[in-house]
Amino acid sequence: MDIDGWLRGMGLPQYAEMFRANDIDGELLGRLTNDDLKDIGVASFGHRKKLLEAIGELGSTPRATRASPPVVPVLIPATVAPPPMSASAEAAGERRYLTVMFCDLVGSTGIAAKLDAEEWRDLVGAYLDAASTAVTAMGGHVAKKLGDGLMALFGYPVAQENDAERAARAALAIQRALAELNRKSAGAGKPELAARIGLESGPAVVDAAGEIYGDVANVAARVQALAEPGAVLVTSRVQRQVAGLFVAEERGIHTLKGVTEPTVLYRLVRASGGGRRSGQRQLTPLVGRDDEMTTLLRRWERARQGDGQLVMIVGEPGLGKSRLIEEFHNRLRDTPHTWVEWSCSQLLQNTPLHPIAEWGRARFGGADVPAERRLAELESALAQVKLDPAENVSLLAPLLDIPLPQARTPALAPEELRRRQLAALTNWVMASAKVQPIVLAFEDLHWADPTTLDVLRGIAERGALAPLFIVATTRPEFRAPWGMRSHHGTISLAPLDRAQVRDMVAELSARHALPRDVVEDVAARTGGVPLFVEEVTRLLLERGEHGGGIEAIPPTLQQSLMARLDRLGPAREVAQIGSVIGRGFSYGLLRALAGMEDAALQAALEKLADADIVLVQGLPPESDYRFKHALIQDAAYENLLKSRRQVLHRRVAEILRDRFAATAEPEALAYHFTQAGLTEQAIEWWGTAGQRSLARSALLEAAEQLKRALDQIATLPTTPALRREEIKLRVPFANALALTGDLLDGKEHYDRALAIYDPAEHGPLTTRSGRDVGVTLLSFRSSCVWQLGYPAASRNDAERAVKNARETGHATTLMYALGRAGTVSIFCGNYAAAQAQLDEFIALADERGKALGTAQRGWLFALTGNALEAVRAITSGITSLRSTGATLYEPRHLWYLAIAYAELAQPEDARRCIDDAIDKVERSKEKWCEAEVNRVAGEVSLRPPAPDTEKAEKYFERALSVARAQQAKSWELRAAMSMARLWRDQGKVQQARELLAPVYGWFTEGFDTLDLQEAKALLDELAT
Ligand SMILES: Nc1ncnc2c1ncn2[C@@H]1O[C@H](COP(=O)(O)OP(=O)(O)OP(=O)(O)O)[C@@H](O)[C@H]1O
Ligand SMILES: [Mg+2]
Repeated sequence: MDIDGWLRGMGLPQYAEMFRANDIDGELLGRLTNDDLKDIGVASFGHRKKLLEAIGELGSTPRATRASPPVVPVLIPATVAPPPMSASAEAAGERRYLTVMFCDLVGSTGIAAKLDAEEWRDLVGAYLDAASTAVTAMGGHVAKKLGDGLMALFGYPVAQENDAERAARAALAIQRALAELNRKSAGAGKPELAARIGLESGPAVVDAAGEIYGDVANVAARVQALAEPGAVLVTSRVQRQVAGLFVAEERGIHTLKGVTEPTVLYRLVRASGGGRRSGQRQLTPLVGRDDEMTTLLRRWERARQGDGQLVMIVGEPGLGKSRLIEEFHNRLRDTPHTWVEWSCSQLLQNTPLHPIAEWGRARFGGADVPAERRLAELESALAQVKLDPAENVSLLAPLLDIPLPQARTPALAPEELRRRQLAALTNWVMASAKVQPIVLAFEDLHWADPTTLDVLRGIAERGALAPLFIVATTRPEFRAPWGMRSHHGTISLAPLDRAQVRDMVAELSARHALPRDVVEDVAARTGGVPLFVEEVTRLLLERGEHGGGIEAIPPTLQQSLMARLDRLGPAREVAQIGSVIGRGFSYGLLRALAGMEDAALQAALEKLADADIVLVQGLPPESDYRFKHALIQDAAYENLLKSRRQVLHRRVAEILRDRFAATAEPEALAYHFTQAGLTEQAIEWWGTAGQRSLARSALLEAAEQLKRALDQIATLPTTPALRREEIKLRVPFANALALTGDLLDGKEHYDRALAIYDPAEHGPLTTRSGRDVGVTLLSFRSSCVWQLGYPAASRNDAERAVKNARETGHATTLMYALGRAGTVSIFCGNYAAAQAQLDEFIALADERGKALGTAQRGWLFALTGNALEAVRAITSGITSLRSTGATLYEPRHLWYLAIAYAELAQPEDARRCIDDAIDKVERSKEKWCEAEVNRVAGEVSLRPPAPDTEKAEKYFERALSVARAQQAKSWELRAAMSMARLWRDQGKVQQARELLAPVYGWFTEGFDTLDLQEAKALLDELAT
């Protein structure tokens, strides 16, 4: 039993150490008496009473039926309930990325014992008030007060951009507040208080009542327990998000109870004064932005001449606004100028003139520099630009956070004082500009407090005729409270293009080149936002090769993405619904799914477009939407409870099926049914998708889709119906594999299907084209097995297929088995048998079968010295087949046609056909015959009038390497024979033998077939 959790649940966590120290476990707990409790140090009568009552409850009633649920399930992960499944539970909560703070007093029982209960209450009350104030001031949410402990959440109910940073600042503020409280207490003779604070960030589920489920709170509590009194301790996850912002000491690796991965802990000492992303890491070398830089430099040139300029750099978070300013600053290194940087802070949007005070501290020193020194500095700075220090210092010093001696404080009404202060500030800037051109870099205008904005406006107006260059960064939502003027300009940053993203990724992953498709994925997911590119790439590199896909959202981005969604208000819900549909969605589908009024829905979508979250095409109701980057789609999706996602996926699937049947892709239906957990429908639709891909000769897609169907089947307990379904799917799946050259896997799946095939049960089952499944399987396997180098086994399968087909008495099935058997006979060089099989086949065949049979007869002609007939038959066969829409297996007809043309001494026709075959193999992915097609191409190259042995050798090389990669031994043998003959004719007899002998030696059966006999004869010849 988790005694800590139990105590916390009652609001008595201070006894946890006491219970531990006295080795009280769950079993002992039930037997504790009032005296026992007194003995171990529970001094308070009220607390003993509470504890005893709770102990009584523990013993008498089983957990499940207890009237009141455990109060703090967060600390007992075992009690986490599975999310409810019904649609009515939709509002039951959400998934959140949180930063959780635990704060607890140290040794409070000891102190409490020394104080009168009322005094203790007041003291604890003062501390809790101070702590709550610090949390709230930083935008946090006090979730629980547990005795003298406190749990606060950042990122819930509303996420803001930098929740981890806020939490850290709040934690430091609490420690400062406690120090202040202790100073006061010391005066009043009261004892000192010390708190431990722990922080952790991570995903959690928050239910409608605000209860947290997930590890994150647990870990925060454990980290808190490890902190030294007075310290703020954070995990590496938190540290990564606030790196550079705080002075942090590493505190070693710790294994936390109940957490599998050890984690590095850090103690936060104080804020570093560094900027949001500064000091965090090395900069990625700049990519692109040439035009923007040119614009900045041109405007700067004009400003330098006294024609003041204001340029706003606009772009969504992470697009590189600050970076552009930084690069611009670098470019000015050799031009005399004064650089002034005012940065607004999201945390301090309502602190008037905060950017100026911050700059003052940076320029003249903060609290650690004596006030007189700073004042003297300011005086000399003013003198340098010929401003009267006497008049200005007293006005400006307070703005720059420099304390003034009482005597120098101007005796003016507050409003008048402020007016003069602002005027002095503007004058100062203007006076400085006269001495040397100024760049005023104004960061994050969208967070400026109103007074600062006013100052900026004044400076911009007066600066129009001065050597003053104002360059401001802002996010798209900012609306300038001034009109556009001719000396104003805007640079709208665009996302990086693919090539630029590739460059960035290459720089970031210099030492471990990432595969090309991964880089393409990064480009697609990040939408070309440099910050996202950096974070996603880093995550990929950190996780290494075994880290799985790229789907995860980097923790550093979690909260900022969530914040963007939370800022949308009700439109967030629409983004979430859209995220379930996919990266792109249509208005019609969204509307059907969301069930909202048009007006409300359109307003929400407009808001999403305004916030640069989705791109729009067309006008509703014909409009289409697309998430600008996959990351924000993922963040919206992540935020939904799994149960809610399932409900929505199900609805998407049903709407697609029932209302968009004409346009909906089966694969989309399959995907949504899978995500909805409706396995049976998912199987059906993956199967449909796979069959459709197969019918369109999209072999790789078919293989993937059918695999999904089979994977889904594997998750269900087998039933006869399911086995039937499985066999039906396994046939096309194995075919898709075999056709694409994945022969071994193909064979395995034929074997597996045949293993569960039961003639009695599955006899009535037919494939989509109406053939007996068992016969079909044997027929397909026979070709596959022949290629793998087992001609006898192949023949055996083919013969069994024909025999079984005859027994079914089913004409389509028999026709099919005969056609396939004919092919195998031709492969084996048994032309007489082939002749007979094809004759019978054609007699039974339908129109398409006849076309196929004609072509196949053509192959026989080509191989038996009747090239003229061959050309006629194959050409006519191909033409008829094409007219029925069948293009599968075309490379095979073409290679025999090429052989026939070569025989007829028509090299150009032969060349054309074989090139066509190679091209078709590449396009249709019918890779099973790639080796043979290349071999035939080599043979064609050797024909007169202009035999090209070099070219032939290249083709044979290619044939050999493809065959080896596919383990297609029969093709390898043919390619080796072709190459050996070529080398023999060049006098390289030994080389020829060394190539052919091991290939031939590999075979264990089928020695009576033509290829093996020819190989043997060739080897004998080469041996002499
Ligand atoms: N063109 C670029 N080439 C390489 N790296 C870049 C480029 N632009 C931005 N970056 C990097 O991307 C990250 C985000 O850029 P930056 O901080 O300038 O974005 P921002 O637009 O100022 O975002 P915010 O609105 O949050 O302030 C930084 O680490 C920056 O170095
Ligand atoms: Mg910035």
